[in-house]
Amino acid sequence: MTPNDNAAVNAKRLAGEKAIDFVEDGMIVGVGTGSTVAFFIEALGRIKHRIAGAVSSSEQSSQRLRSLGIEVMDLNSAGPLRLYVDGADECDAHKRLIKGGGAALTREKIIAQASDKFVCIIDPAKRVELLGRFPLPVEVIPMARSLVAREIVLQTGGQPVWREGVTTDNGNWVLDVHGLRITDPVAMESALNQIPGVVSVGLFARRPADVVIVGRETPEVF
Ligand code: A5P
Repeated sequence: MTPNDNAAVNAKRLAGEKAIDFVEDGMIVGVGTGSTVAFFIEALGRIKHRIAGAVSSSEQSSQRLRSLGIEVMDLNSAGPLRLYVDGADECDAHKRLIKGGGAALTREKIIAQASDKFVCIIDPAKRVELLGRFPLPVEVIPMARSLVAREIVLQTGGQPVWREGVTTDNGNWVLDVHGLRITDPVAMESALNQIPGVVSVGLFARRPADVVIVGRETPEVF
């Protein structure tokens, strides 16, 4: 690992651990996916006696939670959640995000929508002025892959690339859209959501984060 990689890992750990401040006694905690969330899960394991359980956005996170003895619950039985903690691939000043680098975007979006407070945990490299440098993930029903790709080219001018070999936890495929400069994230999210065959779009603009924690020695919270 280079010193830069080490710094990024450390920043993820600092952000993940800081998010514990938002966990209240008796909560069912919404838990996202990824390497930053892995640090949050580890910290959650240390206070597991204080929480009622977790709702998880991926099989990967469910496994991690169970291995620490945290009960993983079904969202339908858990009902509305007070807190959701998840990472992001990009985050702008308005707390709008690109997510889905780990292909868990659909369940992440569902849990974010079901939660009162979405706390997003990131390392400093994820902060951007304008969303779109990170290729935008779009989960699609497999039979609609080419149709959706053509529509995305027409509507956005971006270049969709099929993430070959990856099947989501929902049995679908992912297109990563390169070359975007997303000046109106809400409009783009709404437009792409309308294409038949799109399951979900990795833009979290209509429901952005409520709080962002940037991992630093003294974590930045905004
Ligand atoms: C998972 O699908 C993503 O939305 C993750 O939240 C995102 O990729 C952040 O991942 P890291 O915390 O591993 O950087």
